[in-house]
Amino acid sequence: MTDSYVAAIDQGTTSSRCIIFNQDGAIVTVDQREHRQIFPKPGWVEHDATEIWSKTQAVVAGAIAKAGLNPDQLTALGITNQRETTVLWERATGKPVHNAIVWQDTRTSALCTELGGADGQDRFRDRTGLPLASYFSGPKVAWLLDNVPGLRQRAEAGEIAFGTMDSWLIWNLTGGTDGGVHVTDVTNAGRTMLMNLETLQWDSSILSAMNVPEAVLPEIRSSAEVYGTAVGQLAGVPVASALGDQQAAVFGQTCYGVGEAKNTYGTGSFLLLNTGTRPVPSKNGLLTTMGYQLGGEPPVYCLEGSIAITGALVQWFRDQLGIISSADEIEPLAASVEDNGGAYIVPAFSGLFAPYWRSDARGVVTGLTRYVTKAHLARAVLEATSWQTREVVDAMYEDSGVRITTLKVDGGMTVNDLLMQHQSDVLGVPVIRPVVAETTCLGAAYAAGLATGVWSDTDELKAHWKRDTEWTPRMGTEEREREYHNWHKAVERSFGWEE
Ligand code: G3P
Repeated sequence: MTDSYVAAIDQGTTSSRCIIFNQDGAIVTVDQREHRQIFPKPGWVEHDATEIWSKTQAVVAGAIAKAGLNPDQLTALGITNQRETTVLWERATGKPVHNAIVWQDTRTSALCTELGGADGQDRFRDRTGLPLASYFSGPKVAWLLDNVPGLRQRAEAGEIAFGTMDSWLIWNLTGGTDGGVHVTDVTNAGRTMLMNLETLQWDSSILSAMNVPEAVLPEIRSSAEVYGTAVGQLAGVPVASALGDQQAAVFGQTCYGVGEAKNTYGTGSFLLLNTGTRPVPSKNGLLTTMGYQLGGEPPVYCLEGSIAITGALVQWFRDQLGIISSADEIEPLAASVEDNGGAYIVPAFSGLFAPYWRSDARGVVTGLTRYVTKAHLARAVLEATSWQTREVVDAMYEDSGVRITTLKVDGGMTVNDLLMQHQSDVLGVPVIRPVVAETTCLGAAYAAGLATGVWSDTDELKAHWKRDTEWTPRMGTEEREREYHNWHKAVERSFGWEE
C-alpha cells in the first residue's frame, strides 16, 4: 500500500497555515503566514480577503515544497477557518466588494439591539442556538448591504456572493470565476445566525427579518464530502472537508462521545462539549452549535463557551503596549513574580462573549497600586484566559449537568506552562495536551480523509490520539475561590461603557 497524505488549510484570525499529515495522523510539514489586522475605528476589525487568498496559496506551496511531494500525492484537502468573518464578493470578477468584517468587530451592536426589538437578544435563539450579538455573520452581511453604495440591488440581482472564509477559499480553490463552487458546511453556516439548527437549511423568516437576500447565500453541505476538485497548484485534489476551526478542533481531539470536551487557545478561546445528535438549549449564556456532520450521517451538536479575547490579549500586550517584544517573553516575565500583585485584566475588547454577551463591556484593569509591575500585569494577562475559561466551564455544568473531569487542550497558548498550570489550578481538574496539538488542521484533515477513504471510521482516528503533557491542580480551594471572587468584581467593572 502506498502512503496517503492529506493537506489541511487553517485560515485563522491572524494567520493562514497549511499542514500536511500522513496516514498515522502525524505532521509531515507546516507552513504559515500572518495577514494584516485592519482597525479602521475603535471596535472595528477587518481583513483583506484577497490578501488572505494569496497567503493561503503561498502556505500551500510552502508546505508541499517542504514535504518534497507532488500535489498528485495528496489524497485530499480539508479546510478549516476562523468562523463568522464575512466577505461579499462579485461573482463575475471574484473581487471582494469591501474588506471582510472579522468576527471580533462590534459595528453591528446597535443593529443587533434593533433586530432584537421587544424579544431582545434571544429572538432567534430557539432556531439558531445563538443570542443576537455582533459576533455572528448575518448582521455583518446586512451591514455591508446597507453601507456599500448600490450593493443591495446588485445582491438581489444575484451578482454578489457571501461567504465565511471556508466558502471564499473553496470557491477560489475550485476555479473562482471559472466554475468555482459556492458552498459552506453546517458548522460555518450555523454561525451566520441564518441557519435553522434542526433543518440545517437557511431560515427564510430570519433572512427576511435581517433583510438578507437568499441570492447571496452558499449551498449548505455536510462537513465531510467532496465539494469539488481543486484547480491551479493543487489541480486534481478533491476538496473534501470544511469545518469552523473550533469544530475542527473537536474533531481533531477525537471528542466523538457525548460529554467529551476540548478548549482551544487561539486569538480567543472556545470550549466545546459534545452533546450528541440533538441540540441542547442553553440557559446560561452558552451557544448551541453544530459539532460536525459526516456526509449523510446525523449531525452532532455541541454546547460552546466562546471567549473573544485570550491570545489576542498577549498580542495587545506586545504590539499596543510594547511591554514584551515577542509572545514567548510573557511566560518568563510572569514567572518572575509570585502572583498578580492584586491586578486583574478583563479583556472586553469586543464586548464580553460567553457567558455574558455584553456588547457594552470594554476592557478594564483593576487592583492597580504602585506595587504593581509589568511582571504582575503579565501574570494578569495570562490569568485572564484561565478565569474566563472557568466561567464557561461553570456555565456548561449548569446547562448540561456534566461536570468535566479532565480538559483536553490545544492551540498556541498551550505551550505556556505557567498558564496551563493556572488553568488546572482554577478548574481543579487535570488539563491534558495531546502529542499533535495542531488539532484544528488535524480535524479538517481527518474529515477530508474520511470522505476520501484514507481512514475508515472514527475509531481508527481515536486510536491516533496520544497524551503529551498533563497538568494537575496545585492551588488550594480557599485561594481559588478568593481569586475567582476578585475576578468577578473586575468583570462587573467592565460593563456599561457606551460607544
Ligand atoms: O469564532 C471565532 C473563531 O473561529 C476564531 O478562532 O483560532 O482564529 O482565533 P481563531
